[in-house]
Parts: sequence; C-alpha cells; structure tokens
Amino acid sequence: MRAAGDKRLRIVTVAGARPNFVKVAPISRALEARDQEVILVHTGQHYDERMSHVFFAELGMRAPDHHLQVGSGSHAAQTGKVMTSFEPLVDKLRPDVVVVVGDVNSTLACALVAAKAGPLVAHVEAGLRSRDWAMPEEVNRAATDRVSDYLLASSPDAVENLRAEGYREDQVHLVGNVMVDSLLANLDRARARPTLSGLGLEPGGYGLVTLHRPSNVDDDGAFRQLLEALGRVARRLPLVFPAHPRAQQRAERLGTPPGVRLVPPAGYLDFLALQGGARVVLTDSGGVQEETTVLGVPCLTLRETTERPITVDEGTNRVVGVAPDRIVGAVDAVLEHGVARRRPELWDGKAAERIADVIMAGAGRPSHPRPTDRAAAR
Ligand code: UD1
Ligand code: UDP
Repeated sequence: MRAAGDKRLRIVTVAGARPNFVKVAPISRALEARDQEVILVHTGQHYDERMSHVFFAELGMRAPDHHLQVGSGSHAAQTGKVMTSFEPLVDKLRPDVVVVVGDVNSTLACALVAAKAGPLVAHVEAGLRSRDWAMPEEVNRAATDRVSDYLLASSPDAVENLRAEGYREDQVHLVGNVMVDSLLANLDRARARPTLSGLGLEPGGYGLVTLHRPSNVDDDGAFRQLLEALGRVARRLPLVFPAHPRAQQRAERLGTPPGVRLVPPAGYLDFLALQGGARVVLTDSGGVQEETTVLGVPCLTLRETTERPITVDEGTNRVVGVAPDRIVGAVDAVLEHGVARRRPELWDGKAAERIADVIMAGAGRPSHPRPTDRAAAR
C-alpha cells in the first residue's frame, strides 16, 4: 500500500530479455533521480547468468523488486504466463504508469495487462516497423503500440510510422535512443577491460557475429547456409561468434567452419568492447544495428528487412539478406572501402531524461479514458 500523502508517481518498469535490461537501466535511474517511486519487474523470460544477471551487475542495477520467473515456452505459453503472473501484481501495486520497452513477448504481455487494469502504459521504442509479419517482434511492436498511452519513439521514421497508422500527435514523443544512453555511459569501462587480449584478438583484426532470429537459426538449412557464408568470410577475416542460446546448440551440432570461433554469450561490457574493436559486425540483432552505428563500426544485417532504417540512412548499417554471395560481397566491400561514420540526432545519451520528462508531464492527465477501476472492485 502507498503511504497516505505520498505524492510521488508509482511507476513500474518491466524487463524480461537481454535487450530490455540495457534499455530499462537508464529509464529507472532517470525516474528515481526525480524522486519517483520506481518498481522494477523482471518477467524471467531470460534467466541464464549470461543472458540476465550479468546485465544487472554491469549496468549497476539493483535486483528486481519482483521476479515473475516465467522462463521459456512457446509464444502463447510465454506471453500467457507473463500476463497471468503480472496481472495480480498490477492489481496489488496499482501503479500510475507501466513502462515497457522494445518488442519481446514480455513487452506485449505486460502492456496488454496494464492497458486493461488501469495504469497508463508507456512504450519505449514505439513505432519501429520492419513490415515483416513473419517476425514475432513485428506483431509485438504493433500490438504494444496499439494499447499504449505514451508512444516514445527513438527516430523520426518511427514517428512517421505512428502518424501513418493514425495515432494522435499528443501520444507520440520523439525522445531518442535509450540504448545509446547505456552505451555512452559504459563505453569507457568496456574499453578498459582485457576482453580482446583475453581472446587473443587485435583491434580491427576480426569480425564479430551474432545471430538469433528464428528465421536464421531455427532451421538446419537456413543456418547451414549462413555458416557456410561465415566460413567464406573467415578466409579473409577471422570471426568471433558469441552464440545466443537459441543458436548455440545447433551451431555446435552443425559444426562451425574454420576461422569461425563460437564462444558463449558475452556480458554487456565485453560485448561493447568486442563491437568497438571489430572491423565489421555481422548480425541479425536489432540493438546491435544501433550500437554499431554509434560506435562507427560497419554493420551488415543478415536479414531481408530492418525496423531500424535510420541505421542505414544515417548510420553504418547495410541490410544484406542471407544469400552467401551477397554476404561475402558486402564484407569485401566494407574491407575495401569502410563506411562513413554518422550518428542520428537525439542518440546522445539523454533519451531517458526525455522519457522521464514526458512521463512526469503527462501522468495524472490520462490521454484517453481509462477503464473503470477494475482492480479496486475485486
Ligand atoms: C527473445 C525475443 C527477441 C529478442 C531476443 C533477445 C521474443 C519473441 N523474442 O528471443 O525479440 O531479440 O530475446 O535476446 O520475445 N534460452 C536459454 N536461456 C535463457 C533464455 C533463453 O537457454 O536465459 C533458450 C531457451 O531454449 C529458449 C530459447 O533460448 O526456448 C529462446 O528464448 P526466448 O526468450 O523464447 O526467445 P529469444 O530467441 O531469446
Ligand atoms: N549483447 C550482449 N552480449 C552478446 C550479444 C548482445 O551483451 O553476446 C547486447 C548488445 O550489446 C545489445 C543487446 O545485447 O545491448 C542486444 O540484444 P539482442 O541482440 O539479444 O536482442 P535484440 O536487440 O535483437 O532484440
């Protein structure tokens, strides 16, 4: 229960999977610095030491206030489990605002619960669209935006997408990229670590790989084709591949070609150091497309689409698809010509401050009629 006379906003921030921790850390910190009551909920979607705990330690986050322990499962099972675990917590806490980030199943599940239970819902990274509905994240993005009150966008293209979908101007706020807040705050510490020397790597002397999209790694044929392409790249440039659990077992079973070194998922600081020192990054990650843009490191996205076109238009990213010849050709082009270094506006380390500004200014003035107080009626 809230103490009588406590005028602070009660804000629940939700994190469930690896990229969420990186985004939630600066948001929670900015809201706490304004003396608001911030309650961090970890859904437990990711749970391994290297997929979860290491981020809390390295980002200086306190332990979650509530842990829902949902674990892995099919989309419906995982989303449903987060919903049924989060609903009683929201009913008990009765927050003013629930902040969800990104596009994972935990994001959508908690947004859906909050939208019906009463609190305002703030979606950080609203409006990103790949237009590829085979991506589970695309469903999560569009559905989360639909039930959110505050649509906090990281780039002008996302604002345009939201306008085109008919959202009201007063819901949409261009706040910049919160993942960049974490990157800029931690880069010096990351660079000071012996990450590269520990792996026997020289700055600029290797390529970095991450793959975890189901379309790339859940099918033997598709994954084998990508590994073959990586093998061809590795004849020119050795590759380090910190493998997400989704890819790890299959990569071990299929076998990695010579020059492609499979290592466990890297902690946040080690991974920043690895990105910063790489000659080129080959990835299907969303966040890595953004981080390489800020680091000025060439990024080749091994997908047919990106929901982050600003990293192509203004950053160092190229979307090259999954055909081996195109991947090898793109690496050759990067090694010959490099890429220009640019950084999008508002990717400046202050996005969390702007998010806190929006939430503080808007809370208490609901942007659309809220459901009647269902929780209190129980
Ligand atoms: C999820 C997100 C994806 C995001 C990625 C970030 C959804 C639909 N997908 O994908 O958008 O890019 O996180 O990393 O929300 N596993 C472990 N240990 C863990 C977590 C998972 O071994 O700590 C294994 C389990 O076998 C699990 C599988 O990885 O079944 C997939 O995990 P899941 O959270 O369902 O999806 P991700 O592929 O991680
Ligand atoms: N990351 C990490 N270790 C790794 C791979 C990624 O710390 O081995 C970090 C990366 O720096 C970024 C975030 O995880 O901050 C991106 O998460 P991921 O690629 O899993 O998800 P996506 O962004 O695709 O949703």
